[in-house]
Amino acid sequence: MSLLGKRILLIVSGGIAAYKALELVRLLRAAGCGVTCVLSRAGGHFVTPLSLQALSESKVYTDLFSLTDESEMGHIQLSRAADLLVVAPASADLLARMAAGLADDLAATVLLATDKPVLVAPAMNVRMWQHPATAANMATLAARGVRVIGPDEGAMACNEFGPGRLAEPPAILAAITALLAPAPGPLAGKHALVTSGPTHEPIDPVRYIANRSSGRQGHAIAAALAALGARVTLVRGPVTVPDPAGVTVVRVETAQQMLDACLDALPADIAVCAAAVADWRVAGAASGKIKKSPGAPPPVLDLVPNPDILALLSAPRPDRPRLVVGFAAETDALDENAAAKRLRKGCDWIVANDVSPATGIMGGEDNTVHLLTAAGIEDWPRLPKTEVAQRLAARIAAALA
Ligand code: C5P
Repeated sequence: MSLLGKRILLIVSGGIAAYKALELVRLLRAAGCGVTCVLSRAGGHFVTPLSLQALSESKVYTDLFSLTDESEMGHIQLSRAADLLVVAPASADLLARMAAGLADDLAATVLLATDKPVLVAPAMNVRMWQHPATAANMATLAARGVRVIGPDEGAMACNEFGPGRLAEPPAILAAITALLAPAPGPLAGKHALVTSGPTHEPIDPVRYIANRSSGRQGHAIAAALAALGARVTLVRGPVTVPDPAGVTVVRVETAQQMLDACLDALPADIAVCAAAVADWRVAGAASGKIKKSPGAPPPVLDLVPNPDILALLSAPRPDRPRLVVGFAAETDALDENAAAKRLRKGCDWIVANDVSPATGIMGGEDNTVHLLTAAGIEDWPRLPKTEVAQRLAARIAAALA
């Protein structure tokens, strides 16, 4: 996997994390990439054109309306002369302008004019990241094929804690490598859609229905499929495990959002539904916090069924993935229930596991699974979830070969 000779257009937007862009330029140069930088006006408050120029050994572009720049290298050419556009850090503001298709500065203009793949590394305050506007912008960008790395979770410059930190430069480099020099694996050229984690179904603005899924197994499957060369879209509910590098991550909260994101991601060759989707949601979640008043009876929750994403992806349709894999987390009569589920849902394979509390599987590191296909049942030994994922990915690759 070599980045030698690849050309990166690095767009540095505003934010305290812009200093990490300097380290990214250094890593890219060391990997043999040519790097050209575009520094947004806000980015220029945090790093100087001179430091980017010294590290990239190339001219740094900062102003859309520089006639000298336009005559040397027009913004259209700038946007297309690279193999990949990387936005690091990607501020909430620039992501919003990308989603809206604005072209109000050089950074936004080259992003709108490009015909090349785009990778964004968001960095912002945790509340800005979690704001529904940013979530909607990220979903729009992911549906258009923009790749995402991070953000990481941790302490923020604003004395808050949570997701919003720029991914570390080595992780951004790994994501760039996965895009530009993917390991030539058996799943190269294939698109895999993976769902992972729980869903949160709101009761009111502060309460929700959830489950104990950690997302570990689904995330490991996404990483294992990417390691075999697949282009992976991971649609994941709220989890704390880190997103795997080199896959496109779409973050959702509810089952309905998960379904919409999956349908947006089609066509796919492979779909693996590992998410623990809530079976029901509250009909008409309250828009204000439900108050408890002394002596009043507790509220009654009126539940309605959620869409069954696995069944919908498995249904015959022109863009049905060739191989659809579901999970069956059961506490009783595992194999019988899983076999019935395979037929009921219409999926090709079911990965069945016993999630009785005594097994420690839900939220734990290991898993004991049975693989049900049309040919029968295979019992796999207890394995770390990463190894279950690797075995499953290898089986998927063999089935599609
Ligand atoms: O019906 P049950 O929840 O047991 O089925 C589990 C399988 O179905 C898992 O693969 C899960 O990801 C998927 N599922 C889904 N959408 C739902 C419910 C389950 O995709 N609403």
